[in-house]
Formats: sequence, structure tokens, C-alpha cells
Amino acid sequence: MVNSCRKLNCNIYIGFYCSAIILPLICICSQFSQPTIDQFTKDPGAFPVATNGELFPWRELRLPTVVIPLHYDLFIHPNLTSLDFVASEKIEVLVRDATQFIILHSNGLEIMNATLQSEEDLRYRKPGKKLTVLSYPAHQQIALLVPEKLRADLRYSVAIDFQAKLADGFEGFYKSTYRTLGGETRTIAVTDFEPTEARMAFPCFDEPLFKANFSIKIRRESRHIALSNMPKIKTVEVDGGLLEDHFGTTVKMSTYLVAYIVCDFNSVSGTASSGVKVSVYASPDKWSQTHYALEASLKLLDFYEKYFDIQYPLPKLDLVAIPDFASGAMENWGLITYRETSLLFDPKTSSTSDKLWITEVIAHELAHQWFGNLVTMEWWNDIWLNEGFATYMELISVNATYPELQFDDDFMNTCFEVIKKDSLNSSHPISNQAETPTQIQEMFDAVSYKKGACILNMLKDFLSEGKFKTGIIHYLKKFSYRNAKNDDLWNSLSNSCLESDFTSGGFCYSDSKTTSNTLTFLGENVEIKEMMTTWTLQKGIPLVVVKQEGRSLRLRQERFLNGVFREDPEWGPLQERYLWHIPLTYATSSSNEIHKHFLKSKTDTLDLPETTSWVKFNVDSNGYYIVHYEGHGWDQLITLLNQNHTLLRPKDRIGLIHDAFQLVSAGRLTLDKALDLTRYLQRETSIPALLKGLEYLELFYHTIDRRNISDITENLKHYILQYFKPVIDMQSWSDEGSVWDRMLRSVLLKLACYLNHTPCIQKATELFSQWVESSGKLNISTDVLKIVYSVGAQTTAGWNYLLEQYGLSLSAAEKNKILYALSTSKHQEKLMKLIELGMEGKIIKTQDLAALLHAIARNPKGQQLAWNFVKENWTHLLKKLVSFTSSVCSFTQTLLESLVGFDLGSFALRMIISGTTSHFSSKDELQEVKLFFESLKDQGIDLEIFQIVLETISKNIRWLEKNLSTLRNWLLISI
Ligand code: BES
Ligand code: ZN
Repeated sequence: MVNSCRKLNCNIYIGFYCSAIILPLICICSQFSQPTIDQFTKDPGAFPVATNGELFPWRELRLPTVVIPLHYDLFIHPNLTSLDFVASEKIEVLVRDATQFIILHSNGLEIMNATLQSEEDLRYRKPGKKLTVLSYPAHQQIALLVPEKLRADLRYSVAIDFQAKLADGFEGFYKSTYRTLGGETRTIAVTDFEPTEARMAFPCFDEPLFKANFSIKIRRESRHIALSNMPKIKTVEVDGGLLEDHFGTTVKMSTYLVAYIVCDFNSVSGTASSGVKVSVYASPDKWSQTHYALEASLKLLDFYEKYFDIQYPLPKLDLVAIPDFASGAMENWGLITYRETSLLFDPKTSSTSDKLWITEVIAHELAHQWFGNLVTMEWWNDIWLNEGFATYMELISVNATYPELQFDDDFMNTCFEVIKKDSLNSSHPISNQAETPTQIQEMFDAVSYKKGACILNMLKDFLSEGKFKTGIIHYLKKFSYRNAKNDDLWNSLSNSCLESDFTSGGFCYSDSKTTSNTLTFLGENVEIKEMMTTWTLQKGIPLVVVKQEGRSLRLRQERFLNGVFREDPEWGPLQERYLWHIPLTYATSSSNEIHKHFLKSKTDTLDLPETTSWVKFNVDSNGYYIVHYEGHGWDQLITLLNQNHTLLRPKDRIGLIHDAFQLVSAGRLTLDKALDLTRYLQRETSIPALLKGLEYLELFYHTIDRRNISDITENLKHYILQYFKPVIDMQSWSDEGSVWDRMLRSVLLKLACYLNHTPCIQKATELFSQWVESSGKLNISTDVLKIVYSVGAQTTAGWNYLLEQYGLSLSAAEKNKILYALSTSKHQEKLMKLIELGMEGKIIKTQDLAALLHAIARNPKGQQLAWNFVKENWTHLLKKLVSFTSSVCSFTQTLLESLVGFDLGSFALRMIISGTTSHFSSKDELQEVKLFFESLKDQGIDLEIFQIVLETISKNIRWLEKNLSTLRNWLLISI
């Protein structure tokens, strides 16, 4: 129903590093100082206490770098009946400095035995020496105490036997279940480790910098198969009729990318041009839905290998649809795991937007095989180097492999979505400090993903596609099998190395091949690093204010703030010290040329060769900035749109609609002016532009409708149905046309039916009855399926029938559509029933609970119900969604301390909190939400999401206060 999307802090930069730019002082602190064993003996009071009451010799969250892992031999035997696993490992480590202990991560594992062998012991086959194991659950660490000091520069082998239950949630090594066509429930076991959950499955050095090789063995029953990162080398039969699969040794990689699955799935396979075997796995009854994913992954793998000029390094790539999955997908090297809706395409029930989403997710996870797996960020503060790049590469690869999906036209929305968040004061810089697992989790958010992708796209536009591509290939080649930080990227992008430097296998370093990191742009020197740190170390988005005075354009940059007006006292302080280096582009009425200007000061002036009747900045919306035209600028653009909108490129028209409504929220443009700008939409031929305009009108409708302001609701409804009547009437209830034709059909018919447009309701009702009569066999156009179901869900019989079908359907795409439809019911008791089913987790899986609550909260008849439920059942929700590991919940821990073990669930919780509150727009609601958040703080929970939500509600209140009467009056003259 809703594709969940996603967020960190201290760096590993050595030394005390402060940004050179005049930004909010972001000082990236040095790696923690590491206590030595001497310190430990001198000042024991400074150290924490392990579970057995002894002193734990390490006090930092990050591991010491004295002992580093080289190779893991991992043996796992899960039992899918008793739902637990026994396991053992041998970790080969290198001791860099003499030490008396080894610290590594372990979370919720029962360690039965740990021994140590030196190289000599191994050579002479001497038995291992027993190690004392101390445990410090608050930091998810264990300490292995050695009887004699380990010597510097020697290798040792640490052997550990351990066991645990398969986890209940969606992290670590967990169980997942599915129902077969025959109604049987089957269990599989699957891993999901990013960012900090490998430690739930095996004791390890669970930080991205500790790359090592992994050799994995899995014991299983013969009715199952086992999959892991590498292909299986052999299977041996062991006692009790069990089989043991041995997998090849992996390349050097971080722990969060390790994966293994024991299941009974079927697959389809193909071979990429380079010979890599690609397979898509799903539960047996869903096998027929795997074909599109195979086609897409083969095409995309071919694309990336050519584009990066780097072969995918493993012999195989598996993509697996997991029935219970927390996020959308996970890029484990060679064994990518997906939520079913992100991988399985069912021609009968998957819509065109489902197809776009599947293609996007595959493109994203495949891009990670290079950006993230081959080259990994040093620490989670720079997760954007993984996620921003993977999101950016979606654009490049999907455009190239599936031009018919016209994905390029959708990318602007990626930037628009994050602008909403980044223009609030509660936003954060792309690179941000994160230490605890919760802070690390929080980094997987729109800023890392979407702003990351948008500033990369802006940089590509600035440098040219060729130079940008050369730079990123340089970065990937130079840091392969290693870790990188922001500066490494900027250096690679600054160096103009020749193609031959790479193909000859040599690295191109800045000092050897180029003289400096400076790029000359329009005769000016531009330092890429200096420019880009204004985008990565500084939160927020700039507003470029343009004022035309004769042939001069006066430019000014400010920090754009949504919901804070220039006349507010806080506006001034919130502007202080913000400055971006902005690569501006603009077009004017006098030529077709795209002009460029690099704005790196607060104000600047541009002299045009001649007077122009209009000027439009941010060509094709490639820049991450909003533009305001002072004086007559907006009027000139409105006139232009009305007279001949095609003089502006479609993306420029979309950009104008977006910026105008953003400026309304910032109190810089009146709502009637922005609405006047949309009047040309009746003649708009670009579907994405039309959809952008409609999106705002629909948003206003929902806001007003929720507040029960019936006169405006009625008039706005009337306006939309009247104004867009020609295009609504043109829509067929089929799957014909281009991707955008189909998207428009889905949006328009959904809106028309939602607004009770009689012909729409009649047609949907008729199709629904036919579908019921055919016992769910009738094929309905996939793009209108959700609409037909939603109209059908408005009667009790229809709703009940849909719920029954929900339980039976084997298509995740269809189930999402049905669940959405069920959530649009106007009956509270039906909505409550859905919540109960979601809490129970049988018919409606727990993985869908957050999206369900979000959907119910969007329904005006469900908003209060969903919010009340969240408030009243908070502890219950917390228990369900946050996997506290048993050890972390020991009574010796305070709740605050145990928050270190508060992992993925925080993501679902964030979605639930924002999903059920961010639409609120009254002071009473704000007060209520504040009180609730206060009560949670007393429990020791402090999620950053609280700040975002409170700011969003205040912004909504402000919007209504300022614009309600303008909207009312504008409608009166417009209908
Ligand atoms: N690496 C992430 C998965 C992940 C997300 C791990 C959050 C830890 C926390 C994966 O590559 C990803 O980004 N998945 C996205 C889908 C993508 C197409 C945006 C997701 O799960 O939403
Ligand atoms: Zn990702």
C-alpha cells in the first residue's frame, strides 16, 4: 500500500575537523580515544560493568581498532520447527597492537564457548585456549579476555560456539511465514542486517570499516534449500539425514552485507552478458510473478557493468521475495532480499506504478552492488554515499534500460518530496553525527536518499554528464573493496583523469595527473569540495530571489523556510551563517540558450545583453533550490503560461507550479497568485505538469475536508470537477496508453470517484459487481483496480467480500490495493477491525501495520480513530514493532540505556507517528500531540521525528490562518 521509505551522526575523520565554510558550525569529531589496557588497570572506575559483575574493559560504542577481522568461517544450523539455531564461527584476526582483550559485537546470542589459537597453535594442531567472555548488552558488545597478551602483528583464530532463537521481528536471523494455495502455513528463516543487526546472528566486528571475507556453511533439512551471498560449492550429507551446504568464500565485505536464507522457494534464472547467473526466488505459488524481475535485473546488471566499466565481482546474483520484510529491499551482496511488492509483478493485478516501483527498487539495489558493497562509507554518518548514490543511479539506469517508463519525468518529485522536510528547521545535514543504533537507523531518511540524489544530479548537470561519470568511476575503482568518505568523492570528481588511466589498471591521483582540485567554470575557479560541503554539511535548501531591474538581474540567496515568515522574529536568527555555492541556470525570452551563473555570495548582479519579457531560473529543475521572482517576475511568467506555455520546457512548468506553492507556505507569494498560475493547466499537454497542479488542489481539498469547512470543500470539489471535466471525461477504464497516460488515468479517476462524481461511481460500482459475480475471476484494468475496490468497499457486503479476498489472494500487489480500499470505509467499526487484524498479525501482516495505520489516518473518517489508537496502545505498538533483545531488557539496564538496542522498529514507529499526526492543522491537535510526546519523553524515548511532526503541524496551522479566506474568495470568483 505504501512503500515504506526511510535516517545518523560522529565521523571517523581523524583529527578535529571543522568545516571551512561559513556554515552552522558542524564539527566532525575525531574517532574516540581508545583506552588502553594500562588505563583499564589504572582507572577501573571509568569502565562499565559486565553482566557477571566484572569490569568490562571497553567503554565506547565503537569498537577498538587494535584487533581487526580478516576472515570468518561461519556455520549455522537453523531449526525451522523449534525456531532456533545453533552455530559456530572461527574468526581469523590480525592484532595490530598488543592487547589483552578482543572486543566485538554480539546481541541476544547465547555464547557457549570461546577459544583462541595462535598461528603456532594452528600449525602444531594445539587445542584452543579457553577465553573468558564478558558481556555488556547496553553496547551490544562482548569482551574476550585472553590469558596471555596477544602480540602485535600476529594472526590468531577465535572460535565461538553460540545459539539463539530465530528473531521474532524483521532483523538479524528471523523467521518469516507464508500461506500456500492449499492453505498451509510454512516457515522460512532469513537474515536482514543493515545497519547494526549482523551482531544478532553471529558475534562479529559489526562496523562497516571492518571488511573481511566470509566462508559460510548452512545445515538444513532436505525439503529446504539454503542460499547465501556466494554460490554453493558442495552439499554434504551429515548425521540424521541432514544436508550441509558449503558456499564459496566471499570477496572482502562489511558484515551488514552478509546474508543467508533457508526456505523452500522456487526460482527462475537467466545469464547476464558477462556470464553472471541471475535468479529470482519466490514462494512456490508466486513463482509465476517472478519473470518481470528477472528481465529487469538482467538488463540492469548489463547496464551497470558497462556504465561503471567494472564487472560485478560475484558469479551469481539472487533476488528473493521475502513474505515478511521490514523495508522495501536490502542489497546483501549477491543475495538481495525484497518485500514481495518490491519484486513480484503479477500481470493481472500489478499496475503501471507497481511496475515502475519494482524497476526502481531493482535498479536501486543493483546500484548498491557497486555504491555500498564494493565501495562502502567509512561510517554511518555518510550513509548518503550509499543511499544517495543508489537513488541517483535509479534515474540513470532506468532511463537507459526502460525509456518507455519515462522515469526521468518522475525524478523531480524525488527532490520535491525531500524539500518539504528540508525546509523545516528540524531537518539535518546530509552528513550528520550518529553513534547509537537508533541514531544510525534515523539516518536512513529522505535527506540521505533523496536530497543526496538531488545534489548529485545537480552536480552532474554542473560538471556535465561525461565528467561526472568519469569522476564516479574513478571513485569506484580507487576505493574498491575499501571504505570512503565525502572528501574522497569530491577529490575523485575534481580530477580529470583520462579513460586510459583506468583501463590500464592504474589509479589516477590528483597530485600525479592534475595540478589541483579546481575546476574552471565560466572563467571562475570552482572548488568542488568547497562547493559541495555547502550542500552536505549544511541543512536546508536555498531560496534564490531574483529581481529584474531593466537589463540587470539582482540576485539574493536566503535559507528557504516553510511555515516561518520573513516578518517573524525567528526568521532572522534562522538565516544566520547560511550560504550555499549554487550553480544557477536560467532561460530568458530572448534566446533558447541555457545560461549559467555560479552564485557563491549572498547577493550578486547579472547583466543581460538585452531587456527580456521574462526570465526563468533553474532550467529543467535540476538545481536544489527554490526561486522567487520579485517585482513583476511572477506576473510575467503567469502571462507567459497563459499565452504560450510551450515556450517553457515541461519540467520548467512543473518547477514553477512547485515553487509557487512552496512560496505560499513561506508567506512570500499569495495563494491566489499561485492558483492563478494553475489556470493554464486546462491547456497543459504534459501529464506530469498536469498531475503536479492537480496534486496541490487535491492536497488543499483534503486539508479543508478534514477540518469540515464545508463551503470551501464543496466549492473546491465543484471547481476541480468542472475545470478538469474534459480530461476526466476522456479517461477510459482500461490499461491502454503510455506510462504517463496510465498514471493520469489512475489519479484522475481516483480523484473523481473520491469526489463522488456520478459517472465515476457508476462505472466503478458496475465493475465491482461484475468482479464479485465472477468470484473475483474477472480481469479489471490494473490501473483502476484500486478505485473499483474502494468504491466496492463502501457497502458492508462489498467490504466483507474484499476482506475475504484479501485473505485468499496470492498477489501482494492485489492485497495492497484491497487493503487500501478497506481503509477507505466510512465505518469506524470496520476501520477498527482492520487495526485489530493488523495488531494480530495473521491475516494482515505486522509488516503492513504502519502503512495500514497511515492509510486509515488519511481517511477523514479514520483520522481520529487511528490517532487515538496509537496514543492508547503505544506500549503495545512499541512491543510489537521494536525488537528489544532479551539481554538488553535485563533488569540491570535502565530503559534509556537499553535504547541502544532499539532498532528497526523505530522506523515503523516513525512512520506511524508521522502518518497519524502530520496532517493535523489545529492548535488543539497540536497541543494534544505535544502532550503525548511529552509523556513519551518521560519514558526516556526521544525520537527526532517528534520535532518534525510538531513543526509540520505548526506549519499547517499557519497555512490555514493565512490562506483560508484567500482560497474561499478565489473559488467564489472561479466557479
Ligand atoms: N539499504 C537499504 C535497506 C535499509 C533501509 C537498511 C533502512 C537499513 C535501514 C536499501 O538499499 C534501500 O534503500 N531500500 C529502500 C528501497 C529503495 C528503492 C528506496 C527501502 O527499503 O525503502
Ligand atoms: Zn538503498
